[in-house]
Amino acid sequence: MSLRFFIFALLGSSFSFSHSAHAHFNLTDQDLTKYKVPTTPGLLNGKSPIVINKTKAIQLGKALFWDTNVGSNGVACATCHFHAGSDRRTVNQLNPGVLHLNNPLSSKRFDLPSNDGAPNHALKADDFPFFRHQQSNNKNSQVIFETDDVVGSAGVYLQKFKSINVNPEEADLCTPTGDPIYNIGNLQTRQVTKRNAPTVINAAFNRRNFWDGRANQEFNGVSVFGPRDVNAKIWIMQGGKPVSQKISLANASLASQALGPPMDMIEMSCNGRTFKDVAKKLLPQKPLSTQEIHAEDSVLASLREPSGLGLSNTYEELIKKAFNPIYWSGTEPVQKVQGTNYSQMEANFSFFFGLAIQLYESTLISDQSKLDLAIPNMKKTGATVPSNFTEIEKKGLGIFTDAHCNICHAGATFSAAVNYESNSPNAYQTNGSLSVDRIGIIPSNSDDHVDSTLADVGFFNTSVVPDEYDVGLGGTDPWGNPLSYAQQYVNYLRYGSKKLVDNFLVSSCDFTRSFVLDFNDNEMVEDKKNLAGCSTFLQDLGLALVPKPTVVKQESATLDQGRLSTLTTGAFKIPTLRNVELTGPYMHNGGMKSLEEVAAFYGRGGNVTNRRHPGTLVFDQGFTRDDINALAAFLKTLTDERVRWEKAPFDHPSIQVPNGHTQSANGNLMEDNYLMIPAVGKKGLPADKGSLMPFDAYLK
Ligand code: HEC
Ligand code: HEC
Repeated sequence: MSLRFFIFALLGSSFSFSHSAHAHFNLTDQDLTKYKVPTTPGLLNGKSPIVINKTKAIQLGKALFWDTNVGSNGVACATCHFHAGSDRRTVNQLNPGVLHLNNPLSSKRFDLPSNDGAPNHALKADDFPFFRHQQSNNKNSQVIFETDDVVGSAGVYLQKFKSINVNPEEADLCTPTGDPIYNIGNLQTRQVTKRNAPTVINAAFNRRNFWDGRANQEFNGVSVFGPRDVNAKIWIMQGGKPVSQKISLANASLASQALGPPMDMIEMSCNGRTFKDVAKKLLPQKPLSTQEIHAEDSVLASLREPSGLGLSNTYEELIKKAFNPIYWSGTEPVQKVQGTNYSQMEANFSFFFGLAIQLYESTLISDQSKLDLAIPNMKKTGATVPSNFTEIEKKGLGIFTDAHCNICHAGATFSAAVNYESNSPNAYQTNGSLSVDRIGIIPSNSDDHVDSTLADVGFFNTSVVPDEYDVGLGGTDPWGNPLSYAQQYVNYLRYGSKKLVDNFLVSSCDFTRSFVLDFNDNEMVEDKKNLAGCSTFLQDLGLALVPKPTVVKQESATLDQGRLSTLTTGAFKIPTLRNVELTGPYMHNGGMKSLEEVAAFYGRGGNVTNRRHPGTLVFDQGFTRDDINALAAFLKTLTDERVRWEKAPFDHPSIQVPNGHTQSANGNLMEDNYLMIPAVGKKGLPADKGSLMPFDAYLK
C-alpha cells in the first residue's frame, strides 16, 4: 500500500507528510485501560475542591443527561445520545444542508430521490451513501448522486420562549413562530441538527469536542467558549458575600460542551430561554419524574423512588450534596432580571450542570473490546497480532495499518484528537503535546522546496463533502475568532497585535526535503540532524504560548512567500473508532450507513478532492471487495460488549424519544411518534430482548 502512496506522489500531485506520520503502530499502545481521563485541576482536589462528593455529582450528571424535562419540549441530552452514546433514529433526521455556504434559504431543499422534498422523511437503505460515483472505487468517475443534506438529530420545534411551566412535568410555554424549513403545510415539525451526533462514550479523552472543536478545553462556567467569552462569570462566596468572578477550569471540554444544547433553539430550547429559567424550573423538581429507573441502575438505584419513577431527591438537594457551599450558599438574590430575582444557586446553575455532566460522561469509558481483551496476553507472549482474532479480522488489521488509518485514528481511542494529558506510557510520543502540526507539501511543480501547511492536531479534511458544504474547523466563534489554533497562529504572524484566544503549542520545524524521503526504502524517515532544530519555539506569555520573536520573523517571511498555509477549512475532528459498529450513520454529515460504505470511501480516496486534500493521507487505496469486508470486520473488534448490551456503566433510565411525526396536529405542531427505550440496570439488556444493533439494521 505504501508503494501506491509514492506512485501518487510521482504522478505529479502534491505529496504530503507530517511529524505524526512516522508513528509506528504498536497494538499494545491501544490499551485504553492504561489511559486516564484527564483531570480538571481544582474540581476534586486542592484546598477547597469544587465538588465535595463525586458520587453525588455523578448521580446529578446522569439524571441531568437522561431527564427529558431539561429541554423545552420533552428533549434530553440522551434523546440524541441514547444508542451507544449516539443516535440511531431513522425518521425526521434530515437537515437540508443549512451550513452550505452561498446557498440561499430558498434552495435549502431535501434532496433525496426517495423523499418528496418535505421533512419527516423515513430514511431507507437506498438513500445511502450521500455521494455515489459511477464506479464506487474511483472518485474521478462520474458522480451519479450527491447531496448537501445531513443526517442529524431531531430536537425541538422552532418556537419563542414565554415562560417555564409551573406544572413540573409539562413542556415550557412557547409560541410557535412558523418554520421556513421544518413544516408540512401549516404544521411545524421538529427541527434537525446541522451535523450528525457523535458518541459521548470516550469523549472524555478528547481535548476539544464537537466536530469543529468549538467546545473549549477550558470551562468558564457559563458557555461553551471558554476564555473567548470574556463576560462569563459565576458567583462565589467571599467573606460571607457572593462575588461575581471569572473562572477557567482546564481539561473541561465536556463541561463546556454541555452548556451548548440546553439553550440551542434547534436541539433543546425554545428561543430566548436562559439557564436561569431552566434552574427555576428544575431545582425544586425531582429528577426524571416521568421516567423509569431500573432497580439495579448502577448509579441511581440508591436514589430511586419506590414507585420506580424518578429519584427521591430534588435537583436542589443533589447540588447541595455534590458541590462546595461557596457556590450555592448565598441567601440573598444575586441578580434581578426583568423583575425576577435569582439566587446564587440559580445564577450558577450552568456551572453545576456542566461539571456534573462532565463527571458522568467521564465514567462512560469502553475499554473491554475484543482487541483490549487480547492485549494482556500479547504483552506476555510478545505476539503482534491478537490470538483471538479471526483470519478476516487479522487481514483487516493489516489493511488498517498499511492504509495509514492509524496515523489519524491513533492511540488508544483511535483518534489523534485526544487530550495529551491522558497519559499513556508510549503513545503520542510523536505528537508530544503539540496542538498544531506542520505538514510538508511538495508542490507538484517543484523539486527543490517543500511548503508547509499547519493543521490542528486531531482535525483533518478528508473530502467527505466539498469544502463549501460545511467549513467545520474553518469557522469562527460569535466574536469572530477562528476556532482553529493553526489559524490563530497565522493571524498572530500576520497581525501581531491580534490576541491569541487559546492555549496551544505550535510545531515550528521547517521542513526540508532531506527531512522526509527515502525513496529507496519507500519509507518516510526523519533526518535527526534536521530534526534537532525542530521543536516548539515558544514562550509562555500568560494566556497563550506565543512564538519567540526570531521565530515570528522567520515564519512571517515564509508566509509572505506563500509557502505557509493552514489546513482548517472543511477539517473535522477525527472521530474515535471504538464501538463504531454501533454509532452509525457515519461522518459529520451522517452520509454513510455502514462501515463497508466508509471503507469504500477510503478505498477511492475520498468523495471529492478539496483544496487541501493533498495535506491528508487519504488517497486511492485500490481496495478490493474482500479488503473492504476485512477492514469492516477489524473495526467491529473495537466494540465493547458492555456497550452492545448496555451493561454498567452504560445502563440508563427509560426514555421516550421522538422519532418522526404522525399526521395529526397539536395546535400548530405535528404530533410525535415515539421510540420507547426501556430502563436498563447494571446487568444490561435481557438476552431475549436482543442487543443494540448497527444503524443500518434499523433502516427500512
Ligand atoms: C437534538 C439532538 C441533541 C441533543 C438534545 C444533544 N446533543 Fe449532543 N450532539 C448532537 C450533535 C448533532 C452533535 C455534534 C454537533 C457538532 O459537532 O456541531 C453533538 C455533540 C455532542 C458531544 C461531542 C462529542 C464529540 O466527540 O465531539 C457531546 C459530548 C455531547 N453532544 C453531549 C451532549 C449533552 C451533554 C447534551 C445535553 C446537555 C447533548 N449532547 C444534547 C446532538 C444532540
Ligand atoms: C488524514 C486523517 C485520516 C485518515 C488517514 C483516516 N481517517 Fe478516518 N476519519 C478522519 C476524519 C477527519 C473523519 C471525520 C471526517 C468527516 O466527518 O468529515 C474520519 C471518519 C472515519 C470514520 C467514521 C466514524 C464516525 O463515527 O463517523 C471511520 C469508520 C473511519 N474514519 C475509519 C478510517 C479507516 C478505516 C481509515 C483507513 C482506511 C481511515 N479512517 C483513515 C481522519 C482520517
